[in-house]
Amino acid sequence: MLDAKLIADQFPSLKQAVNGRRLVYLDNAATTQKPQCVIDTITRYYTSQNANVHRGSHSLTASATQAFESARETVRDYIGADSTKTIIWTRGATEAINLVAQTYARSALKQGDEILVGEMEHHANIVPWQIVAQQTGAKVIKIPMQTDCSLDMAAYQKLLNPKTKIVALAHITNVTGTRQPIEQAIGLAHLVGAKVLIDGAQGIVHERIDVSILNADFYVFSGHKIFAPAGIGVLYGKQTLLEAMPPYHGGGKMVDKVSFDGTTFDKLPGKFEAGTPNVAGALALATAIKWYESLSIELISTHLHDLVTQTCRGLTQIEGVRIIGIQESASLLSFVVDGIHHQDIATLLDQQGIAVRAGNHCAHPLMEALGVKGTIRVSFAAYNTKEDVDQFLEAVSKAIDLL
Ligand code: ALA
Repeated sequence: MLDAKLIADQFPSLKQAVNGRRLVYLDNAATTQKPQCVIDTITRYYTSQNANVHRGSHSLTASATQAFESARETVRDYIGADSTKTIIWTRGATEAINLVAQTYARSALKQGDEILVGEMEHHANIVPWQIVAQQTGAKVIKIPMQTDCSLDMAAYQKLLNPKTKIVALAHITNVTGTRQPIEQAIGLAHLVGAKVLIDGAQGIVHERIDVSILNADFYVFSGHKIFAPAGIGVLYGKQTLLEAMPPYHGGGKMVDKVSFDGTTFDKLPGKFEAGTPNVAGALALATAIKWYESLSIELISTHLHDLVTQTCRGLTQIEGVRIIGIQESASLLSFVVDGIHHQDIATLLDQQGIAVRAGNHCAHPLMEALGVKGTIRVSFAAYNTKEDVDQFLEAVSKAIDLL
C-alpha cells in the first residue's frame, strides 16, 4: 500500500495552514506541489551551477550543458522515445501545441483541409488549431463526446476522411478525468493519413506512456503537473516530422549559419530551441521524473482510484450534489451543487483550508455541452490521503448548509 503521508512529508508547502486550517490541496490538475528534491535541484543550480548552455567553453557552461542534456535523456527514457532529437524543450504543453500548429500544421494545411478536435478539449488544444485554420483556410471540426465525456468513436469514424490532416485529443480530460481511447483514435486517424497530437498535460502523471508503442505523431506535456516547476514542458514528435518542419522561433542557438543573404538552421532538437532555455526547469523536471519513478505508479494509481471512489461515495450522499461526467476517473472529478454557484462553494472550502478549482476549467465548449456554467473540480495527487477526503466532504456539507 502507498504511504501517502510519507510522500506528503517530502512537500514543504503541504505543511502550512491556510485560513487557520491544515492545507488540503486538491487542485493537482491545475498544478502539483513540489517535493523537496525538486526545490533542492533549483536551489543547487542557482547556487553553484548557473551558466548558459551550448554557448562558451568555460567549466560552468560545460557542466550546465552536460546536466541539461542529461535531463533531456531522462525525459526520453521516461516516455520511451527513440532519440533525444525528438525531445524538444518548451515552456509547457500550451507552447508545444502552438509550436506544432505554427510549424507542422501551418506548412502542411491548405484550404478545405480538416482538423478534428475533441469537444471536451482544454482551450490550449482548441485555440491554436483555430488560429492556424484561419491562416490556412483549413476547418476545425468538433468530434462529439458521449455522456461520460469520452470521445464518441462512432461519430469520430464518420468524421475521418481524406481531408482530415490533424487530430488533436487529450490523453486524460482535465475537467472529468476521462481517459480517452487514444490508441484506437490514433490507429483510425493514420488509416486516412492524418497526424495525431496527444495533449498529455493530465495523462503524463497518471500513466507510464511509451511513445514508440503509442505511435502518436506528437505528444506534449507540462512539467508543473508532474511535480516540476512551471515554465518547462516537452514536445515529443516523430523525428521525420520534426526534421521536415520549419523552425518556430528565430534567434540564437537554433541556427547553423546566419548571414544577411540567408540562414541555415541547427539540427534537432536545437532547431526548435531559440534563445536561452529554462535550464533550471529542465534539471528540476528530470529530478521530478526520477523521484516519481522511484515510487510505484501502480500503487499510486490504486491509491488515487481509492480516493476518487471515497469522494464519489461521500458526495453522492450529500443532497443537491451532482457529479459531472463519469463517476470514477483516474484521479479527479467535477461536481455541481443544484442552486448554488460553484464559486461560492469553492470560497467556503478555501475558508476551511481546502484548495479546489471552480470555474469553466478553460473548457468553454465542454461546459456548453454539459449545460453548466462551471463546476467544482477536486483533483488528487500521490500525497493526498483519506483524511484529506474526509476533511473535504465535511467542508462541502458545511458549505452547503451555510449557503
Ligand atoms: N490546465 C490546468 C487545469 O485544468 C490549468 O486546471
